[in-house]
Amino acid sequence: MSKSLVRKSLQGFRPYMPGEQPPDGEGWVKLNTNESPLPPSPRVIEAIKAAANDSLRLYPSPTAASAREAIARRFGLDPAQVTVGNGGDELIDLCFRAFVDAGDRVAFPTPTYPLFEPLCRIHEATPSPHPTELPWELPPSLAPDPASLKLIANPNSPTGAFFVTQEVEAVVGASSGIVAIDEAYVDFAPHSCLPLLEHHENVLLLRTFSKSYGLAGLRIGFALGPADLIEAIDSVKDSYNVDRLAIAAAVAAIEDEEHHRNLVSEVVKNRGNLAGALADLGFDLVPSSANFVFAKPPKPAAEVVAGLRERKILVRHYDREPIAGWIRITVGTREQQESLLAALKEIVS
Ligand SMILES: Cc1ncc(COP(=O)(O)O)c(C=O)c1O
Repeated sequence: MSKSLVRKSLQGFRPYMPGEQPPDGEGWVKLNTNESPLPPSPRVIEAIKAAANDSLRLYPSPTAASAREAIARRFGLDPAQVTVGNGGDELIDLCFRAFVDAGDRVAFPTPTYPLFEPLCRIHEATPSPHPTELPWELPPSLAPDPASLKLIANPNSPTGAFFVTQEVEAVVGASSGIVAIDEAYVDFAPHSCLPLLEHHENVLLLRTFSKSYGLAGLRIGFALGPADLIEAIDSVKDSYNVDRLAIAAAVAAIEDEEHHRNLVSEVVKNRGNLAGALADLGFDLVPSSANFVFAKPPKPAAEVVAGLRERKILVRHYDREPIAGWIRITVGTREQQESLLAALKEIVS
């Protein structure tokens, strides 16, 4: 396609680059995209099998009604306060569609989820980054920013830093626009900002089934918030943004609370073991509240990452300041972490 046919505002556009997804079954230890190391609930697999029938010829419910209802029950909300999307990523995009005019400011602390900036370009919004430094606390400049939309990943990625509710609430209270709190990793953290929904009309929580429910391959996430904001999101979404299998899976996943709790506690336990072992190997670490650890190796990160890759182990590497030299490692199974640590011992010693 001739470049001249592409929108002017997208010239020179640098898209978000997802982490490498090698073909299944090639024996990679994949610790680069924060997927769950543990499988989804067996009840989810049964629900997907049961939904894979003749009714696939019919469109799904445009409101994904059964999923909204199940999620609402789980969080003690009204179904009108819930919407679902094709992963948390779609819900972030829908916030732009619903709340951001071309030219509006969209504010976020940095470093953070690298999807936010390209979305600003796509929607012709003005990114308003608020740089943070170690230990990656919420920057005081964020609250007074007059942005139409503020995006706070909490816990943040790639740092794993967690902002307590009072700090986030100070930003929400000072903001005239929407504050969307991206809680993709919150199940691995001390608490959610859910109570903010009781006192604020400009706050949305974005969640996903990709991490703590082991369903990254299905693409389903949800948003919780005031009914009028949810209605605004619904008004700009695609008609059938979540398919029948994902809807059935979401219902089964949210209803199997025991499986979810066990998955989270296993990941949190493995995270502690991984962090301790990395510290013993001389890595610098910040405490993580997510399903990954963010660490600075005692040797150049590029060398460490290449050494791991040679051994078929993938982690995420950053080469831009202020996180150049750091790597993000997804918490794995005990066996995956043993392979990782054995490899790192060879590489850094
Ligand atoms: C901070 C953050 N938000 C949202 C997502 C979106 O997840 P998904 O689109 O799989 O629901 C991710 C995925 O890695 C993430 O890191």
